[in-house]
Amino acid sequence: MPNSSISGAPAPLSASRIRTHHLQQVKDNGGRFAMLTAYEQYTAQIFDEAGIEVLLVGDSASNNVFGNETSLPVTLDELIPLCRAVTRGARRALVVADLPFGSYEVSPAQAIESSVRLMKEAGAHAVKMEGGAFYADYVRAMVQAGIPVMAHIGFTPQSEHALGGYRVQGRGDDAVRLVEDAVALQNAGAFAVLMELVPAATAAAVERAVTVPTIGIGAGNATTGQVLVWQDMAGLRGGKMARFVKQYADLRTVLAGAAAAYAEEVRSGAFPGPEHSF
Ligand code: KIV
Repeated sequence: MPNSSISGAPAPLSASRIRTHHLQQVKDNGGRFAMLTAYEQYTAQIFDEAGIEVLLVGDSASNNVFGNETSLPVTLDELIPLCRAVTRGARRALVVADLPFGSYEVSPAQAIESSVRLMKEAGAHAVKMEGGAFYADYVRAMVQAGIPVMAHIGFTPQSEHALGGYRVQGRGDDAVRLVEDAVALQNAGAFAVLMELVPAATAAAVERAVTVPTIGIGAGNATTGQVLVWQDMAGLRGGKMARFVKQYADLRTVLAGAAAAYAEEVRSGAFPGPEHSF
């Protein structure tokens, strides 16, 4: 029986540091956990203190930090300092770092070398890697080297040109392939399977087919965990949001208001006042 809190939802994990086996415990107890991206120390601290179980230093930093149009240009050298800041800021959350495009595809050895850099130089607790059953041998080699691996299937943004843009994956007959991918990656040792842009019914079939926790983004409500990019979740990013995004705050308006009020007071001479002067 899941350990229930007053709200009826399973009680949050009591661990002082979330480990991969705690996420497994959540699934085994019929619970759910939350994951957000983070790319620097303050959001890492805030989300950690808010009880977010997993922080992802995503290659989405490419679009959300470095201003690129896609996730493809970001490099390992660019992600490492962001990840280091997140691991310094987070006391409790499991910190997962993305293997960026070009840092693992060549061979299992390249995947291990890049993962070791993320864990050794940036303090990541685990890595996330995009790709299906083809990468099972890579995952097996990485896990043998002591690297916890989160698999990422469905829509894989690093392959957006090969997939023909942002499109839902795993529809119709393709659902079977997605389940097979998830099972192959789990059997190779992945501790969790993340699914992006997948029909809710397909994601539910994957969640049932594997014993490890699944995590969804645009994958319905049946997965063990959910993940969102924090700038989307908190309304910092402007522009059109994907259908799967729910905005829990409007930080863009809050920050724009603060910046405009500051500029106004500087121009009028109201800031700095005597209380801000020496
Ligand atoms: O890089 C990222 O933010 C991700 C999420 C979309 C899951 O991979």
